[in-house]
Amino acid sequence: MNVLVTGGAGFIGSHACVSLLEAGHNIVIADNFCNSSPEVLEHIKTITGRTFSHYNCDLLDYEELAEIFEKHEIDAVIHFAGLKSVPESTRIPLTYYHNNLTGTLHLLQIMEKKKVNRLVFSSSATVYGTSNQVPYEESMPTSATNPYGWTKVMIEQMLNDYTVANSDAAITCLRYFNPIGAHKSGLIGDNPNGIPNNLMPYVCQTAVGKLPFIRVFGTDFNTKDGTGVRDYLHVLDLAEGHVKALEHLEKKKGFTVYNLGTGQGTSVLELLDTFERVNNIPLKRELHDRRPGDIAESYANVDRAVKEIGWETRYSLEDMCRDSWNFIRTNTDKQAN
Ligand code: NAD
Ligand code: UD1
Repeated sequence: MNVLVTGGAGFIGSHACVSLLEAGHNIVIADNFCNSSPEVLEHIKTITGRTFSHYNCDLLDYEELAEIFEKHEIDAVIHFAGLKSVPESTRIPLTYYHNNLTGTLHLLQIMEKKKVNRLVFSSSATVYGTSNQVPYEESMPTSATNPYGWTKVMIEQMLNDYTVANSDAAITCLRYFNPIGAHKSGLIGDNPNGIPNNLMPYVCQTAVGKLPFIRVFGTDFNTKDGTGVRDYLHVLDLAEGHVKALEHLEKKKGFTVYNLGTGQGTSVLELLDTFERVNNIPLKRELHDRRPGDIAESYANVDRAVKEIGWETRYSLEDMCRDSWNFIRTNTDKQAN
C-alpha cells in the first residue's frame, strides 16, 4: 500500500514508518517538524535501507496538504500529526483545538475529495476520562479533563460521523495507553524538548544526570503500593499495531476503535525499580503530593485488538526500560561530543 503518514517524524510515527517499510509498504511523510527534527527521516532510511518521499507540510495549510495527494497515489493514511502536551493544552487551548481539529478536518476533506477511504488515527487512553473502571473497554463512554483530551474525543466523534455519511470509509481509532521504549538501534526514540511531563522521559533525564531526582506524584492512591498505575507498552509493539490495523482496513469498512496496551498495570515504583535493576543505575526519588488531574489506575482490556486484528505485545517492561535508556544514553553522548 502507499501510505501517507502525517506526523511521521515524531516519536510514535517514526517507529510506525519503520514497521510499515519493513512490512513492504511504501510511505510518504508529511510533518511540519514542530515537535521533531528532519534528521529523523535519515534515521528511518538508515534503519530500513529504504527511501521515501517526505514533505515539510503543515496540516493547517490545506493547499500544501492537497498537493501531496495530487503528487502521490495514496491508498491509506495514518494520522499521527497533533500537539500532545496536557499541561500546554491547558495554557493554549485554542492552539490545540486549531492544530488538532483543523488539521484533521483538512485531511478528511481532501481524503473525501480524492476518494481515499482508509484512515488510522492516533487516539489516546485519555478519552476514558475519570469515571470508568479499569480495565478500560472500547465500549465505555468517553470524556476528557483537559483540552488535549477533548481534541481526541472530538476527533473520534468527527471520524465516526464521517463514516456514517460515507459508506466506503474505513476508519480505525487506536487508543494508545502509555508508549515508552525506543528502536533497538538507538537512532529514533522519545526526546522531548525542555523538562518532560511524562514519567519515562523524566526518568531518563534523571538517569543521564540532567535532572537531580524523580518526583513520585502521589503515594496514597488505592493501588498495589499507593503510586499511580499505568499500562506501559513498547513503542515497537505499538508501531506493529498500526500495520495490523491498516491491513485489517482492507477487509473492514466503517468505524472501529481498538485499545493498544499490554493489559498489565505497572506502578510508578515498579517502573523505577525495574529501570534501576535492568540498567544498573540508581534513581534518586522524592515522594510528592498527587499531580492535579491524575487518576489512580489506567490499563486496557486488549481482547478486541487481539481477536480482530491479531495484535499481541511482545516486549516486556524490562525491554522498555532498557531501550528507553539506550536511546537517551546514545543521543546524550552524541550531544556531548
Ligand atoms: P510527537 O509530538 O513526537 O509527534 C507528532 C508529530 O506531528 C511531530 O513530528 C510534529 O512535528 C507533527 N505535527 C504536529 N502538528 C502538525 C501539523 N499541524 N502539521 C504537520 N505536522 C504536525 O508525538 P507522538 O508521541 O509521536 O504522538 C503521535 C500521536 O499520538 C499524537 O497525535 C498524540 O496525541 C498521540 N498519542 C501519543 C501518546 C504518547 O504518549 N506519546 C499517547 C496517546 C496518543
Ligand atoms: C499523561 C497525560 C495523558 C496522556 C499520557 C500519555 C496528564 C494529566 N495526562 O498521562 O493525557 O495520554 O500522559 O502521553 O498529563 N509520574 C510521576 N512523576 C513524574 C511524571 C509522572 O510520579 O515526573 C507518575 C504519574 O503520576 C502517573 C505515572 O507516573 O501515575 C505516569 O505518568 P505520565 O507518564 O505523565 O502518563 P499519564 O499520567 O498516564
